[in-house]
Amino acid sequence: ATEAEQKDLVIIGGGVAGYVAAIKAGQEGMKVTCIEKRGTLGGTCLNVGCIPSKSLLNNSHLYHQVLHDTKHRGIEVEGVKLNLAQLMKAKDSSVSGLTKGVEFLFKKNGVEYIKGEASFKDEHTVNVKLNDGGETSVSGKNILIATGSEVTPFPGLMIDEKRIISSTGAIALEKVPEKLLVIGGGIIGLEMASVWSRLGSKVTVVEFLDQIGGPGMDLEIAKATQKILKKQGITFKTGTKVLSGALNGDLVTLDVDSAKGGKAESLDADVVLVAIGRRPYTGGLGIENIGLELDERGRVIIDSEYRTKIPHIRCVGDATFGPMLAHKAEEEAVAVVEYIKKGYGHVNYGCIPSVMYTFPEVAWVGQSEQDLKKAGIPYKIGTFPFAANSRAKTNLDTDGMVKMIADPETDRILGVHIIGPNAGEMIAEGTLALEYGASSEDIARTCHAHPTLAEAFKEAAMATSGKAIHF
Ligand code: FAD
Ligand code: NAI
Repeated sequence: ATEAEQKDLVIIGGGVAGYVAAIKAGQEGMKVTCIEKRGTLGGTCLNVGCIPSKSLLNNSHLYHQVLHDTKHRGIEVEGVKLNLAQLMKAKDSSVSGLTKGVEFLFKKNGVEYIKGEASFKDEHTVNVKLNDGGETSVSGKNILIATGSEVTPFPGLMIDEKRIISSTGAIALEKVPEKLLVIGGGIIGLEMASVWSRLGSKVTVVEFLDQIGGPGMDLEIAKATQKILKKQGITFKTGTKVLSGALNGDLVTLDVDSAKGGKAESLDADVVLVAIGRRPYTGGLGIENIGLELDERGRVIIDSEYRTKIPHIRCVGDATFGPMLAHKAEEEAVAVVEYIKKGYGHVNYGCIPSVMYTFPEVAWVGQSEQDLKKAGIPYKIGTFPFAANSRAKTNLDTDGMVKMIADPETDRILGVHIIGPNAGEMIAEGTLALEYGASSEDIARTCHAHPTLAEAFKEAAMATSGKAIHF
């Protein structure tokens, strides 16, 4: 292609990383094409990840609350029934509304959208196998790899999305399984365990580590989380390794062993969810055609400006380094377009929040206590329980706490960890504080509305820099 025919930016993948970069590039006046093979935009997050899982979490929580948490509030309900098909329909309509919304935003920002599978022909050209048949090719001055991630399989357990499922099957079951076994007590495992346990499954989570919550969750918060989820009816087998699994008549059987060696046992269930992590996805992309390199975990190797060793080919989102989170992908997408267009961009990797949407929610930003201990960094801690917060008491939802960690000398906040109602919203305040380099005293001296859950955040800050009033 001549230079005039070349796009300014060709994006492979229309997930959060790809579609946000496409919109941003359109806004910057660049000629941009986004190629997505799924048939809809939004990637894992909108189609089979963040959005459908949160729909199920929200509505299964409502169902569970109506069943078990109304009488003492003075509300008596009878004849409560689950309509699983309708629950799934509500989820599907949230998904399709949002994916179509992205398509609208593409039109609004002049983004060309090609439905098909892209692979590298050479350093400036990608071939596209069109979903509707036929082929085309697109040439770009810059190319962005935003191909995302896929589920990590468990050796020997073939995922059929019916009885041996990944998260994709777990958001689309047609029947509530009598017994559900979850391999992996990370975020996917715990969110999906919550959904199906609330809807009536007997759920057991098998986790290799002694701690649930996956990487990053503060140990003290993880312990509190496990206690609360156990009270809700989920069984945990931590420090337990799944050795193998097999279909066994109507059941799926897992052989497990204590992670430290010793007690072996066999567990069975109607459905087994494999949730042991996700891995970068670059299948079919033909990166070997242009000599791009992956690291030992399959991540596309990039520099601090998201450039591969071919500088005009860059990569952001789940396909490369960093936490596999939608908002991380989104930040990178904006930054990478700024690097291309202006030569500078910015993402603060020390300040990316994590949220687990169980009930109560668990949210954190910055460093955990165990991180700091391990690194030998001195710290001080302030905590405040929701049991002492007036709004939580009024709402009769008092499980959880706010834990703030700060530098003992400068008082600068190093981490915020919350388990409690609405923790996912409240962590925005912690993230802002961390981003602005606030001290715990800054927050302790900031007026918070009464009665709100956010007062627990302020009081945790008071406890960090001095003393809380209400505890
Ligand atoms: P993806 O969303 O995976 O998008 C990549 C896209 O590229 C895909 O649509 C794929 O079809 C396309 N593609 C790949 N190869 C090609 C090719 N050769 N040609 C054309 N197209 C191609 N994160 C959060 O922050 N919050 C959450 O609540 C949350 N919940 C989640 C729940 C579940 C069950 C799962 C699985 C994930 C969840 N995540 C969540 C993680 C989040 O979904 C990912 O971090 C995010 O989707 C990454 O965006 P991405 O654009 O990098 O990749
Ligand atoms: P994860 O990495 O969070 O957790 C996997 C867990 O499985 C770990 O605790 C690990 O110790 C355990 N495990 C691994 N092998 C095992 C074995 N053989 N037996 C028992 N346990 C084993 O991965 P997960 O939950 O699959 O999620 C993948 C990613 O998706 C997350 O890391 C996150 O980035 C993203 N995600 C984010 C969500 C959110 O932000 N709310 C929701 C869902 C997913």
